[in-house]
Amino acid sequence: MSKKVTLIATAAMGLEAIVGKEVKALGYEDIQIENGRVVFEADVSAIPRANLWLRTADRVKLLVGKFKATSFDELFENTKALPWETFIEEDGEFPVVGKSVKSKLYSVPDCQSIVKKAIVERLKVKHGIDSWLKETGAFYRVEVAIHKDEALLTIDTSGSGLHKRGYRVGQGEAPLKETLAAALVQITNWTPDQPFVDPFCGSGTIAIEAALIGQNIAPGFNREFASENWSFIPQKVWDDAFQEAEDSANYDQPLQIFGSDIDPDLIEIAKKNAMEAGLGELITWKQMQMSDFKPKQENGYLVSNPPYGERMGEREEVEEMYRNLGTIMRDHPSWSVYILTSHEGFEKLYGKPATKKRKLFNGFIKTDYYQYFGRKPKSKPDNGKGFGF
Ligand SMILES: C[S@@+](CC[C@H](N)C(=O)[O-])C[C@H]1O[C@@H](n2cnc3c(N)ncnc32)[C@H](O)[C@@H]1O
Repeated sequence: MSKKVTLIATAAMGLEAIVGKEVKALGYEDIQIENGRVVFEADVSAIPRANLWLRTADRVKLLVGKFKATSFDELFENTKALPWETFIEEDGEFPVVGKSVKSKLYSVPDCQSIVKKAIVERLKVKHGIDSWLKETGAFYRVEVAIHKDEALLTIDTSGSGLHKRGYRVGQGEAPLKETLAAALVQITNWTPDQPFVDPFCGSGTIAIEAALIGQNIAPGFNREFASENWSFIPQKVWDDAFQEAEDSANYDQPLQIFGSDIDPDLIEIAKKNAMEAGLGELITWKQMQMSDFKPKQENGYLVSNPPYGERMGEREEVEEMYRNLGTIMRDHPSWSVYILTSHEGFEKLYGKPATKKRKLFNGFIKTDYYQYFGRKPKSKPDNGKGFGF
């Protein structure tokens, strides 16, 4: 199958380069990294592969066309000129959503209905239908996104957002989005043979994402995608992509991943989520307060999203926790520590400037990812002794 398509992997602000790296790792070289997205050209088989494998992208959209549109006429004619029939079958259901930023065509409802009308006209002619379109078949969510008078017309291939891996059966108050958790792990130099700890694990997102990465399990393996029902993608292409995911998973890779949290209910939720993710007992979970954390192995990775102390009355307690963490980790200089928080005084409280910092958004909260690189350990990681906490 050599039909070429242009795909857009959308990314949260700050994660574009990581999504770009993932796209490249799938073997697609021709990529452009832009604000909020990575655009790449590929064979049609990239639709299932990108959806199954991209851990940090929000969704994968198929680019149908882009053009300048400063009038409704231009929007209508240019939309009608695009080859919609290549993608949308006779009975396809295609709602149109839209957005417009800094453009002459600012009325989103009007843009949506014009685009809808133009596609209907095109499909009726191309599919030879003279009555109305039934729209009872596969689902194609069309988006018209106008930015500075340039209209981008896409079809969403993912369905629900890619952060929905299918394993989250429960969550706490402030769960991390799975895509961001995967990014936090990927930013580190952790390799699956090394200990990995999240002492504020909540519902377990970071530890679960680390386990999926550690065993090379495709994050989309447990879910469905809108484009699975599209007739222009042969079933074999999907079957091959699922087979590739099955063959690539390394279920024999031993892991030393540990998640703990002060809240026993969250530990129960984390266990259920890990089970749902198919990880069985692979991750060690424990109800424990962070101050009781004593790394026994010489080196490892601590990756965490602790409370930020933004709520009334919580700040002092959280600051004390950061101080405590710094004191504990000072005695373990070979451990690498990665903390995501919005608290601007983190480094001071922890007692050490970070080796590196990276600005990231946790939803709408502006955060920094504080990265402390561990010293090279004197001996090799000790995998045989189990997890000593
Ligand atoms: C921002 S949430 C972490 C959310 C998690 N990343 C997830 O995806 O569900 C912070 C967690 O720290 C836990 N926590 C608060 N104080 C703690 C302490 N002293 N020791 C250990 N855990 C604590 C809370 O119970 C909460 O689950």
